[in-house]
Amino acid sequence: MADWNAEQYLKFEDERTRPARDLLAQIPLDDPRRVTDLGCGPGNSTELLVKRWPQARVTGVDTSADMLRQARERLPGHNFIEANIAHWAPPVGTDVVFANAVLQWVPNHLKHMQRLVGALEPGGVLAVQMPDNLDEPTHIMMREVAFQEPWRHQLAEAAQLRDALPKPGAYYDALRPLCSRLEIWHTVYNHLLDDPIAIVEWVKGTGLRPFIDPLELPERKAYLAAYTARIAAAYPPQADGKVLLRFPRLFIVAIK
Ligand SMILES: C[S@@+](CC[C@H](N)C(=O)[O-])C[C@H]1O[C@@H](n2cnc3c(N)ncnc32)[C@H](O)[C@@H]1O
Repeated sequence: MADWNAEQYLKFEDERTRPARDLLAQIPLDDPRRVTDLGCGPGNSTELLVKRWPQARVTGVDTSADMLRQARERLPGHNFIEANIAHWAPPVGTDVVFANAVLQWVPNHLKHMQRLVGALEPGGVLAVQMPDNLDEPTHIMMREVAFQEPWRHQLAEAAQLRDALPKPGAYYDALRPLCSRLEIWHTVYNHLLDDPIAIVEWVKGTGLRPFIDPLELPERKAYLAAYTARIAAAYPPQADGKVLLRFPRLFIVAIK
């Protein structure tokens, strides 16, 4: 898959950062020393951590060169490293691992969450938010269009890339034995966007990438036209002409 595009991702920065703010508000630590932002992206979530705990050593971790370049520009003087979460371990003394909107991309993430909690200091926190939206029209339709000709062979892999999240009970059973406290909840956002095109632009920055990245320009245009027509039908305008993008998200705060 092509690299992430920070500019596309940041088109909806305010809306995308809101779950990170909501997650951060549930971390009951006043004075952590070492904090890591896993899948830090362009540094929007890292900035929240730096502002909340200015005395802490905050590090951002990401696989994307473009995202890391933006993050370094945004927060000069902070530490950003290129690493894959699947092979990354928290340094000794880590009090907070924050992972907003990233672990859904990491295969077997439940196993990695157990490993991350295990490596925290006592009282340390793993805070995770993941989109739980594979059954929303945005994602059903990207798969439906991908299963049609002429894309079905080229996009067969993309449709398999993200598995549905395990049920909350699976996280509970896996993490509870490692934690002194464990909070799990869902929040459904209704993001107000200008029109169906804005919904397509939103998912182009994230979930739609594996579907359009493999296509050459003319095919990509045709795929996007077919997808946009379905999105327009699934997200009708409100009384003021805007559309509501329903977006369920799963939150987990695990305190060791
Ligand atoms: C949806 S963005 C989240 C950005 C930011 N944390 C936020 O709250 O808006 C997901 C980020 O995770 C990164 N990412 C995806 N898989 C990763 C992995 N296995 N290891 C590290 N970073 C990863 C991507 O490069 C991207 O920057």
